[in-house]
Amino acid sequence: MPSDDRPVTIPDFSTWKNQGRKITVLTAYDFPTAKLLDSAGVDCLLVGDSVGTTVQGRDTTLGVTYEQMLYHSELVARAARRALVVADLPFLSYQVSRRQAISLSGRILKETSCQAVKLEGGERMAATIEAIVKAEIPVMAHIGLTPQSIRRLGGYKVQRAEDALRADAQAVAQAGAFAVVLECVPAELAATITTLLPIPTIGIGAGPGCDGQVLVFHDMLGLIDGFRPRFARRYAELGEQIRKAAASYVQDVRDGSFPGEGESFR
Ligand code: KIV
Repeated sequence: MPSDDRPVTIPDFSTWKNQGRKITVLTAYDFPTAKLLDSAGVDCLLVGDSVGTTVQGRDTTLGVTYEQMLYHSELVARAARRALVVADLPFLSYQVSRRQAISLSGRILKETSCQAVKLEGGERMAATIEAIVKAEIPVMAHIGLTPQSIRRLGGYKVQRAEDALRADAQAVAQAGAFAVVLECVPAELAATITTLLPIPTIGIGAGPGCDGQVLVFHDMLGLIDGFRPRFARRYAELGEQIRKAAASYVQDVRDGSFPGEGESFR
């Protein structure tokens, strides 16, 4: 547990960057999980639109709706006592117009206890970030591999265009983002960007030189069969444990050993 258990604020992010204190972020989508992660001392809970692939069983995040994000954001924010909660803006909730981006970002702050929104895109989204921030809504940016660009990118691929990534990072910082996620950016470049930027970088598949790290909850705990991103360290194999527990339950019911004496009323 952290010694300092007061609620995390947006200014803490820049203080921690200046102090060289690493920032920890994990995704969360529901109340009990958020409660566990918060009590473990995670600094920031990201209600990612990865809910589409982790919870909804989709192939991409494109189908996730704004109303679904609002719902999951409310559940997570209700559980967090210390962690700062950031809600992802789903595909087409901020790209159509700045007016819509401000209004839908504002609803997240008005209708949930989240403190910030996250959106994908660098230079091309800078004016939108600036408009949202001007409305007093903190924005976390996200550059590099942006999953909502999957159709244009043609797959989940490491982004290596150095000049473009550097320009993206500088544009979102200048636009007023309080932090930026660097997804699948080569480690050396991510470290250079981290040194150049006045705001913290939060890496995922971007090496150890970032100011903080984010992992997707289901990846780090082995909850999804199949594709295993090589950057996602497994901290537990909960999928296997759940399968074994469920199989034991099936066995116990079938052989009559559950429920027992103590599990029945008289
Ligand atoms: O949606 C998400 O979970 C994310 C993280 C991978 C950063 O954007």
